[in-house]
Amino acid sequence: MSLHQLIYLSKASRPLTSIDFLEILEVAKRNNASLGVTGSLFYNGGWFLQVLEGDVTVINSLYRRIEQDNRHEHTQIIYLEPANCRVFSRWTMNMINLETERGNKYDILADVIKAATKGGLVEGLSPAVKLLKVFSSDHFFQSVC
Ligand SMILES: Cc1cc2nc3c(=O)[nH]c(=O)nc-3n(C[C@H](O)[C@H](O)[C@H](O)COP(=O)(O)O)c2cc1C
Repeated sequence: MSLHQLIYLSKASRPLTSIDFLEILEVAKRNNASLGVTGSLFYNGGWFLQVLEGDVTVINSLYRRIEQDNRHEHTQIIYLEPANCRVFSRWTMNMINLETERGNKYDILADVIKAATKGGLVEGLSPAVKLLKVFSSDHFFQSVC
């Protein structure tokens, strides 16, 4: 098992409803649990950003399946690197929809997604690195190595 983190960006192909999000999340949780995959899905302004953590072969083939999904388009990997620890060990998948939740990470997550769509940096870091940093420095997530 070679633990890696894959982060991709994509654009919703149509306006998605809360039912769409629930369906995506339910299937993702079920499949990812059996694949040993953890991660999180973020959504704002029609853009998805998803972190997949797991064995490199597993997350690559999962990504190839996800990119075929017609609920989104223009999928683009922005980060694929080996990792010592899982940042999202608590979640086989989780969804943070910034359009409906304004949690304590709202501002930084909105900046991360915006920078990812524009190819910019966030506080001098690539959006993917910043995203991982935001969660790995949060004690709630307790990285599992
Ligand atoms: C933005 C987005 C993220 C998704 N994330 C996952 C995921 O993490 N894991 C997963 O199995 N399917 C995910 N899916 C759903 C897959 O594209 C696909 O519908 C699903 O894996 C099919 O599973 P099934 O063959 O068990 O029905 C996602 C879809 C979208 C649009």
